[in-house]
Amino acid sequence: MRNLILVAAVAGLALAGSAHADVDAAKAKQLAQKYNCLACHAIETKLVGPAYKEVAKKYAGDKGAEAALVLKVKNGGSGKWGAIPMPPNNVPDGDITTLVEWILAMK
Ligand code: HEC
Repeated sequence: MRNLILVAAVAGLALAGSAHADVDAAKAKQLAQKYNCLACHAIETKLVGPAYKEVAKKYAGDKGAEAALVLKVKNGGSGKWGAIPMPPNNVPDGDITTLVEWILAMK
């Protein structure tokens, strides 16, 4: 729990200067906590899954990335970052879109 709070605090700091105009970063972060994304992901460091900043870097300039990542978060899968799969996430599409936009807007 302490770690989650720390991660959230760091995320808040990091996002303060760089949040994408269309993304409500505070809301997105709450969703990431609510849906347990942060159990496997952190903003800056690899946990079970890739750091969100690394994800943003990998797909920078890729116009199809948002749609592909929404599907990936929904259905789960492996092979992009290693052999460990992400399980399917039971999250409403609109919330997944908010999360993916938030992740892709990180710098
Ligand atoms: C049980 C651990 C776990 C949870 C929970 C989890 N992820 Fe992941 N996530 C992973 C792993 C492992 C990968 C790497 C998959 C791969 O190599 O293709 C990943 C990859 C990703 C990627 C990059 C996908 C790609 O194809 O490059 C995004 C974006 C992502 N996760 C977002 C989320 C979001 C948003 C949530 C919460 C709704 C979430 N994850 C919950 C483990 C998790």
